Amino acid sequence: MKPVAHSYISEIENYVPGKAKIGSKKAIKLSSNENALGASLKAIAAYKNHADEISRYAGGSCNPLREAIAAKNKIDPERIVCGAGSDEIIALLTSAFAGIDDEIIYSEHGFLMYPISAKRVGARAVKVMEKNLKADVGAILSAITSKTKIIFIANPNNPTGSYLNKSEIDKLIKGAPRNILILLDHAYEEFVEEPDYPNAIELVNKHENVVITRTFSKIYGLASLRIGWSYSSSYIADILNKIRGPFNVGGPAQAAAIAALQDEEFFTASKNHNKKWLEVFFEELAKQQKINAHPSIANFILLDFGNVEACQKANQILLASGIIFREMTAYGLANCLRMTIGTEEENLRVLEILQKICDEL
Ligand SMILES: Cc1ncc(COP(=O)(O)O)c(C=O)c1O
Repeated sequence: MKPVAHSYISEIENYVPGKAKIGSKKAIKLSSNENALGASLKAIAAYKNHADEISRYAGGSCNPLREAIAAKNKIDPERIVCGAGSDEIIALLTSAFAGIDDEIIYSEHGFLMYPISAKRVGARAVKVMEKNLKADVGAILSAITSKTKIIFIANPNNPTGSYLNKSEIDKLIKGAPRNILILLDHAYEEFVEEPDYPNAIELVNKHENVVITRTFSKIYGLASLRIGWSYSSSYIADILNKIRGPFNVGGPAQAAAIAALQDEEFFTASKNHNKKWLEVFFEELAKQQKINAHPSIANFILLDFGNVEACQKANQILLASGIIFREMTAYGLANCLRMTIGTEEENLRVLEILQKICDEL
């Protein structure tokens, strides 16, 4: 006899994280869309300064942090909820709004935590096909049934780097019944420069069924501290506050996040670095025919090698050269690898090895 978990739990395919190491060798890790420049020195100092207080529970409501986020985004702090990464908020929202026999919708190559969080609560994850590696709003609206509870959109999407513009998101919100929660996952928003990119905060202010999630893991470089947040109606924020752990975000994480928000210089340096290197990669990759670089507005690029064999060969060459990209089979993209923008030195080495791959394919 042993304790038995819900039968639907066994259907969950484990999340496959990016590799962190190649044996014991020091590697260039570009597999998890982390910030190439690391973290703000001010955030690191704030984290260290918190060391003497780790025997105490941190403020469970993250008040100073929510105030800081609210001031920066000109929004009501009462409608912000902080979590242990935006992953936690995604899981909490799913457990609050979906359950056994319900459906959630996500796009074909959408972020894998969406189906995982749905299956965790016994809901069915309905995968809707994309067009040219981009979420297809018409197809998503057609997939809605009376069982649909949540539509998940990562904008820009990980791993494709594609995005839905203002009018596409408007069409989605207008076309979906108001009792369906629309989760706009803006984990990479800070990297985006496109003028037609939707303003998710305005959308939340207008529509009670729209929620946005944001994170400190990407441009703010605090992935290991696990800190993200949502902005929603107070109705939804109240629900999240009922079901989150009372101390779900640690004190060092809160302190570092507040300092990170204030470090404009690091933020701008990170954004400019990413912009510059996205341009360099697209310019360089346009010069060859073996690898198709899918357009991206985030801090990563999806590289298509044309077929599985070429992709595997490319990955072997990369790994032998000490470079770790993310394998994409779990996302249904077995011809592809996803690379995060790295430091200048890392990027130059990557360009050199990609050239070698083109020569050998
Ligand atoms: C689209 C998207 N959403 C959410 C997350 C989760 O971020 P975190 O839980 O670190 O805030 C990620 C992480 O890679 C992501 O790519």
